Formats: sequence, C-alpha cells, structure tokens
Amino acid sequence: MATKQKTVYACTECGGQFPKWSGRCPNCGEWNTLNEEITAPSRGGAAVGRAELCRIDSIDTQAETRYPTGMRELDRVLGGGIVPGGMMLIGGDPGIGKSTLLLQICGHLSESYKVLYASGEESARQIKLRAERLGVDKGELLLFCETDMDVILNAITTEKPDIVIIDSIQTVSLSEVASSPGSVTQVRECTGAVMRVAKREDIPVFIVGHVNKDGAIAGPKVMEHIVDCVLYFEGDPHSNYRMLRCAKNRYGSTNEIGVFEMRDKGLYEVENPSMMLLSGRPKNVSGTCVACTMEGSRPLLAEVQGLVSPTGFGNPRRMATGFDNNRLALLLAVLEKRCGYFFSNLDTYLNIIGGLRLDEPAADLPVALALVSSLKDKPVDEGVVAFGEVGLAGELRSVSGAEQRIAEAARLGFTRVIVPAHTLKTLTGSYDIEVVGAATLREAYEKL
Ligand code: TYD
Ligand code: MG
Repeated sequence: MATKQKTVYACTECGGQFPKWSGRCPNCGEWNTLNEEITAPSRGGAAVGRAELCRIDSIDTQAETRYPTGMRELDRVLGGGIVPGGMMLIGGDPGIGKSTLLLQICGHLSESYKVLYASGEESARQIKLRAERLGVDKGELLLFCETDMDVILNAITTEKPDIVIIDSIQTVSLSEVASSPGSVTQVRECTGAVMRVAKREDIPVFIVGHVNKDGAIAGPKVMEHIVDCVLYFEGDPHSNYRMLRCAKNRYGSTNEIGVFEMRDKGLYEVENPSMMLLSGRPKNVSGTCVACTMEGSRPLLAEVQGLVSPTGFGNPRRMATGFDNNRLALLLAVLEKRCGYFFSNLDTYLNIIGGLRLDEPAADLPVALALVSSLKDKPVDEGVVAFGEVGLAGELRSVSGAEQRIAEAARLGFTRVIVPAHTLKTLTGSYDIEVVGAATLREAYEKL
C-alpha cells in the first residue's frame, strides 16, 4: 500500500478535499474555508480487529444492558440509556451547556461505574470547581486533561473505564497526522481511532463536537456516519431553556427531545415542558391559540401567536418564526379562498412561543385559528386547544397521536379541544375534556 503523504486543501465547512487552493469551496460555495492539510494514509474504518462470520440467530442480545444516565430526559433521547460500545456525538453552540450536561451525568454514572473524562478545553482545577458547584465531585471519576489522542487511547486501554467522555473532538490530535487539531483530517482520524477502541472494548463514548456558523457539527460529515448517535443541544441564548434533539440514533427513535433548564447549579430536567411553554400566556387577547404537537412520543402544548395589521405600503409582509413560511402562505390562501377571510392587504406575523418549531401538519389548525382570531379581533377562549391538518379544500384531516394529545390537554386543565371531525369517530376512550369535532376550517372557527 502506498504510504506517501500528499497535500490537499480541505474545506472546514463541508469537508470536501481538493488538489488546488481556491478562495471559494467548489463543493459548498463557502468563501475562505479551504485549508492546507497533509493527508496521512487512513487507518481504515473497520470496527473490530478480526471479524468472524456468524448467523444472526446465534447472536446473544439477552445480555444487552443500558446504563441509565440519571437524567430521564437524556435517557429518553438516547432511546433508553447508554448502549455499551455506543458512540454519542453531542454538538451545540459554545456555552450552551454541553460540558455541564456531561459532567452532571458523570456524577451519577461514577457512583456505579468508572468514568474517564478527557478534556482538552479546561484544566483539571477548572473542571473540579465546576464539579463542586454541580455537586458531582465524588465517585470514581477520572479527569484527564490531555489533547494527545494516543495518550488518551492508551489511558482507555490500561484503565479500562466503563464510560469515556471526550470534550471536545476539535481539541484532540493524533501526532502521526500532520494537520492541526480541529482540521478535517484530524477530526476524522481521531473519531475513527476512538471508535476502534470503543467497539473493541465495548466502552460507550460521548464526544463533544463544536458547531460551525450554520449550526451543523464542524468537521467532516463522515464523523456523523461513524458515530451511532448524533445529538444537538440547542436553546435560545436569551432563555435558560435548553433542548436536546437527536439527529441520528442507531438504537432508538430520532424524534425524541429532552428539555432542560440551566440554573445556577447546573442543568435541571423539565419534566413538564407544556407547562413551561404556556407560562406567561396573555389573557383575553386576540390572535393566540394553543397547539398540541407531538415531539416523538411526547405531546407538547405550545402557544401560537398571530398578528394581522394593515399593510403600510406595497406588498403585504408575511413573517413566521418557528413555522414554515410557505406553509403560512398556503394557509392564508386556504383561508381566503375557502373560508372568505381576506388577508390580501394585511401584514401577517406568526410566532411560536418558547423557541419551538412546529413542523407538523397538526399545527395547521391552531395557526389558522390564531390568524382568524387576530383578523376578527376576537380572542379564542383560553381553555381551548386545537390540532389538525388543513387540506387545500379547507377541510380538516386527522393526524396521528390524537388520544395522547387530548390526554395532555386534559391533564393541563384545558376545557375544550377542537379536532378534525374524522378523528372524533376514531376515539375510544373517555376524557376529562370536551372534544369538539369540525369538518372544515370554517366550522372549527365557528365552533370556538
Ligand atoms: P458549558 O457547559 O461550559 O458550555 P459548552 O461546554 O457547551 O461550551 O456551559 C457554560 C454555560 O453555562 C456558561 O455560560 C454558564 C452556564 N452555567 C450556569 O448557568 N450554571 C451552572 O451551574 C454552570 C456549570 C454553567
Ligand atoms: Mg465545553
């Protein structure tokens, strides 16, 4: 095999590699992102040293256990806890709380397991100070402030920890790879090297990854292919609430979210996110309606706010935050054509409270109701929740998870829920809330 080193120019945004430098990446079109790198011959991607052929029915999965992290919100996102040998990548903006989250779960895990926390970002003293603040400075937690990947891998092989955390992959480097830490080649090779050790020793590994300016994990896409689970830790910088989303999970659903609140003593789980999303709701004001959306298997209530006002000049503005702009245009067209509510010379603004994004069709009905309520300047009763997809004929169509949504609305003390008429027929249980079916958007507004 040829072992000659060669120089390439790699894009820090998309990971594309080119033989020549240019000011703009030919692949993703970003400016000034190509860096010179020396490619080392890759060590290959095979996970285990020697593979054996085996029949699928001869593989024993009875012994498959998962380590609970002590945080139910995180366990749910992971699909029920940490899988031995699993590689979990956590990305997020700087200061969002990635290190805090991992240090907190270390506190719980180190009570029963041996945890190795390798940090290239902070000194042992800094970590200890933070651990003291979080109250997790006991147990078998080994801190290792090291950026040399070979040293970290050696420590893993000799210490044989049960769980490893690497904070962050952009600060560690392999000495045999000539590129600087954080470069595409380094990140790829380091991830591959950890993976081989993790799979061989069956040790779960959490890797922290920085994000680039678009919010995607910085480094080559291949890193996301290697790992088993990709988590994004997100949140509005102005609020204390944080959401953990899963973008890839080989051992569970990707739809789950975990909600946390950052306080002075670390991250707290928010077990009742609907309550948090509805806090501070205005009373007796037109243009708001409560939506019930499903995030994975969990129903969430969120407030939708619409504002309609006369256009100053020219084309009316349509602006949506947390909702698709095209979907808003479509709903406005349906409201005009099928229901006779005219928005053509009105600016329309839509906002979903709490930094939530409603991508589900079930959000159509509450969005339309909030807009009509603002148009007519007539408040929607505060005990009302709505969900349902709006079709182009102005009809309401059923959505999945109706029973869970209704149960969540009832649990939080709402008194009426507006659902598509067809959904009403499929319901079997009895609920502590009045369930109203409507066949069309117009009927839904009239039944409010
Ligand atoms: P950190 O975990 O260092 O972020 P990341 O590793 O994602 O870059 O989070 C640091 C932020 O969290 C910092 O802005 C301060 C805040 N914080 C608290 O509010 N309370 C706490 O108990 C801790 C440890 C941090
Ligand atoms: Mg950090």
